[in-house]
Amino acid sequence: MVDQAQGLRDLFLSQREKQKGAKEPAGKPRHHRVISFTSGKGGVGKTNLVTSFAQMAVQKRHRVLVMDADLGLGNIDVLLGLRPKRTLQDVLNGQAEIRDVLLEGPGGVTFLPGGSGIAELTALETAQKLALVDAINELAVEFDTLLVDTGAGISPNVLYFNQAATEVVTVVTPEPTSIADAYGMIKVLHQRGRKGPVYVLVNMARNGFEAVHVFQRLSLAAERFLGAELINLGWLPRDPRLESAVRQQTAFVGMYPQSKLASRLREMSTRLFSLRSGTGGEEGLARFWSDLVDQETSDLMESGPT
Ligand SMILES: Nc1ncnc2c1ncn2[C@@H]1O[C@H](COP(=O)(O)OP(=O)(O)OP(=O)(O)O)[C@@H](O)[C@H]1O
Ligand SMILES: [Mg+2]
Repeated sequence: MVDQAQGLRDLFLSQREKQKGAKEPAGKPRHHRVISFTSGKGGVGKTNLVTSFAQMAVQKRHRVLVMDADLGLGNIDVLLGLRPKRTLQDVLNGQAEIRDVLLEGPGGVTFLPGGSGIAELTALETAQKLALVDAINELAVEFDTLLVDTGAGISPNVLYFNQAATEVVTVVTPEPTSIADAYGMIKVLHQRGRKGPVYVLVNMARNGFEAVHVFQRLSLAAERFLGAELINLGWLPRDPRLESAVRQQTAFVGMYPQSKLASRLREMSTRLFSLRSGTGGEEGLARFWSDLVDQETSDLMESGPT
């Protein structure tokens, strides 16, 4: 099982090696990060925060691509009023090139709409997997960071994205159900052997005490029951103007620069974009996709015939 997964991955990576010399411009950063935003419970702020972080990152000249991997209604194109004509599904069906699917959103952020292609990622043929990773490798020349907005819940797709990402940001609010679901997500990822860093972002906290309490509950449980270490990314206050700013296609930090939320968002964004995962490496983006489409194979082989 490991051999087959490894074989497919080696094939992806050797293809990339072959393409590299010809396609990569000089001076390109050699470190790719794939940061997946997840939560367990829905409605905790993932989509609004991914959008805000991406807008701030673009301003600082990071080359970010945002992947909308949410199959539900709360996804980025709905929030921003974008109407993608084509999605990842068209790429998988061979009806579009990956470049034709990319959309430019407010603040100069580039989006890759997943659409129903996300559900199909778990059932691709090997040839489709290779074609997809090939297409993604082309994007790796232009983008150094992929932010993935996942949907709520612990569905196979959400798990695949979180497994394959170099880093996972778990967004949690002080609500007990949010904390329980965030722990549930961390536990499943740990049980499935995820090794990369897991950050915790406490959103909509009333103050630092409340946020620290939430982080400690999660990190103590993770340490005691899973032997896993969580990294505190910090906390954000509730500000009802966030959604209206994002919906009006304006970066919140630009619209309300003096607000507490804006100042914390700026700090957090600086921290997030200065972290180095240590696991992404040069091939982070290619590895992400090959791992992602490879997991179905490994899972099936692990569970064996039923
Ligand atoms: N810091 C905040 N202050 C005030 N409102 C917030 C904050 N963060 C998020 N919200 C609001 O919470 C709601 C849910 O946010 P969002 O859609 O981003 O969550 P989500 O985690 O992506 O949800 P889903 O899991 O359904 O995709 C929105 O109305 C959003 O404006
Ligand atoms: Mg969302």
